[in-house]
Amino acid sequence: MQQSEFKIIITQYKDLNELPENDRQLIMAAREIAFSAYAPYSGFKVGAALRMSDGRIITGNNQENASSPVGCCAERTALYWANANFPEKPVLALAITAIDRAGNLAAHLSPCGTCRQALLETEIRFNQPIRVLLDSRNQIDVLNNVKSLLPLSFNGECVI
Ligand code: THU
Repeated sequence: MQQSEFKIIITQYKDLNELPENDRQLIMAAREIAFSAYAPYSGFKVGAALRMSDGRIITGNNQENASSPVGCCAERTALYWANANFPEKPVLALAITAIDRAGNLAAHLSPCGTCRQALLETEIRFNQPIRVLLDSRNQIDVLNNVKSLLPLSFNGECVI
């Protein structure tokens, strides 16, 4: 019998100003696009911003539907647009944020399992770790890659 431990490193910032300029820009882009999310059912408006290898920023937000499974999260809206239009460009970083029903930054936010799997595909496809910035009301959590958000993930093989 053997036990293994999986360690996730999360760097936490209390203040946006502690982050490097390009991270701050990405978070501000996510906050801006969150306002134009289509979220009449949940009232939870999510914004995602991707920094591509050429410095370009691509944004997306959640798009809901009366038939709820048809809707799409902000992360995949941005990611699939990026991969469709720039199939040769790796994604270097992702920022996500959300505005709650009261119009405040959401207290907590982390990508859903489906988005983690979708993001992991891009990380593996380009062999390029995607820095993940989770922007919430009281802090910003930074992870070095998507893989750490999805231990024991499915990739045809196990990619711990
Ligand atoms: N949502 C996202 O867009 N991204 C996440 O990381 C979590 C959830 C959306 C889906 C749905 O439109 C709304 O937030 C409430 O779940």
